[in-house]
Amino acid sequence: MNMAQFFYYVQNAPWYFHFLKPVLQILEPLPDNAKVLDVGTGAGKLLELGKSQTSFHWEGADTDNEMLSEARRRPTLQDVPLHLLSPDSLPFENASFDAATFCSVLFLIPDPLPLLEETVRILRPNGRLVALTPTGEGNISPELIRQIGIHPQNWTFFLWRQMTSASGHDWARKGILAEFARQKNATYNKQIVFNGLAAVEWIQF
Ligand SMILES: C[S@@+](CC[C@H](N)C(=O)[O-])C[C@H]1O[C@@H](n2cnc3c(N)ncnc32)[C@H](O)[C@@H]1O
Repeated sequence: MNMAQFFYYVQNAPWYFHFLKPVLQILEPLPDNAKVLDVGTGAGKLLELGKSQTSFHWEGADTDNEMLSEARRRPTLQDVPLHLLSPDSLPFENASFDAATFCSVLFLIPDPLPLLEETVRILRPNGRLVALTPTGEGNISPELIRQIGIHPQNWTFFLWRQMTSASGHDWARKGILAEFARQKNATYNKQIVFNGLAAVEWIQF
């Protein structure tokens, strides 16, 4: 199993829906035909959920072609454009999307500022940037375990937590998106979600 196949497996574990769900909630105020780009989409789970739960036009992008191949395996994504990226650049026209999402992506990039600048360029005026990041905090309460369900794929949850804790703490400490929003004169928001295990941040330009 390569990394991309492993990620496809993780994204399909039942708990992963609960992790991604807050991003869809933050996008709810967008109009019906809004164009949304999921950057670092990996195996495309957010696109699949977004397509089934919203009437937005979704596109996905990633720097890793093997990840995109996994996304292409999803029958529900056959008509969703999936773009291979060079790092730090987004091959789209200025002002061509209403929102861009980053789920577990920005905290992995050593210097995310060039990519954030690119995102501002491709967003329309009043566009929205949404980032979901593990916190490395939170607790695994009985309620959460019930919510996730007893399922053989649950080992993926504990592995995910172990693999993301240190970089999640680091991301929260740096406050990069809050500072970026301040510099752009945009509105910054943050909500702790998924039992404290993740944070969703969004910038309204
Ligand atoms: C941890 S995975 C998250 C995948 C998916 N967003 C999710 O929530 O499951 C991180 C993804 O970001 C992609 N990635 C890493 N650096 C990137 C960059 N500079 N631009 C776009 N995607 C990037 C990786 O190839 C990988 O698919």
